[in-house]
Amino acid sequence: MKRQTPRLHCFATTIELYEATAQAFGEAAHAAIATRGRFTVALAGGSTPRALYERLAQPPYRDAVNWRGTEIFFGDERCVPPDHADSNARMARAALLDHIIIPPDHIHRMRGEDEAHRAAHAYVRELRQVFGREHPPCFDLILLGIGANGHTASLFPGTGALRERRRSVCAQYVEVQQQWRLTLTYPTLNAARAVWVLAKGTDKAEAVQHALEGPHEPEVWPIQGVTPQGSYLWWLDEAAAARLNGIN
Ligand code: 6PG
Repeated sequence: MKRQTPRLHCFATTIELYEATAQAFGEAAHAAIATRGRFTVALAGGSTPRALYERLAQPPYRDAVNWRGTEIFFGDERCVPPDHADSNARMARAALLDHIIIPPDHIHRMRGEDEAHRAAHAYVRELRQVFGREHPPCFDLILLGIGANGHTASLFPGTGALRERRRSVCAQYVEVQQQWRLTLTYPTLNAARAVWVLAKGTDKAEAVQHALEGPHEPEVWPIQGVTPQGSYLWWLDEAAAARLNGIN
C-alpha cells in the first residue's frame, strides 16, 4: 500500500475543531444526498468523536442534516452488548442517535453481543442491504480515530485483520485489549469517497507525527494503511499536531 498524504485541518481549540468538523459533516451529507439521494457514513468509536456527535445533535446540524436520507454504520465495535460501557453503539446513541429523527432501520449497528465471526458475517449482510453487491462497499464518508499505538478502527498492530484484502468486515481478537473486536477492513476504508481522521490532545501527538511523517510501516502503525481513493482529511487540534514538522 503506497502512502497517501492527507490534507490537514488544524484548530487552536477542540471547540473550533468540532464546530468545523460538524459543519463539514453537514456539507458532506447535503452533497451526497443531492448527488446520490442518500448519505452513507461509518461512525468512529472511542472517546474523540463523542463531542462531534454531541455537536451534530444540536442546532443547526440536528435540523440541517437530512437524517432520513442518511444511513449510519460503524467502523468498528467492541464485542460487548449494546448497553455495555465499552460499546461504540451505546456512545453514539447517547451522543447523537437518540437525539435526531432518523428511521431506526437507517442505524446499522454491529452486533457486538453475538459470537464475533457470526457478527462479522451478519454485518457483511447488513452492508449488502444498503450497498447491494458493491464490493467493497463505497461509503460517502468514514470517520476514524487513531490510538496512541497507531491503530484505527479495530485494526491493531500485528493483527491478522491488517492482511485482510477480500472481506469488507472481519472479527479479530485483540491481545492488547483482551477483547474480540469487529472492524471494517482496509479494502472498505480505502474504497470510501472520503475518509476523515479525528485526533485531539497531546497524548496523540506522537502517533500523529509517526503516522504522517514517520517511516511507512502499516503493520506497526496501522493508520498508515489507510490510503483512500477519495478525499483524505485529518481534523486535529494544535495539541495533537504539536510534533508535526510540516503542516500543509
Ligand atoms: C475504538 C475506535 C478506535 C479509536 C481509537 C482512539 O473502537 O476504540 O474505533 O479506533 O478511534 O482507539 O480512541 P480515543 O478516541 O478514545 O482516543
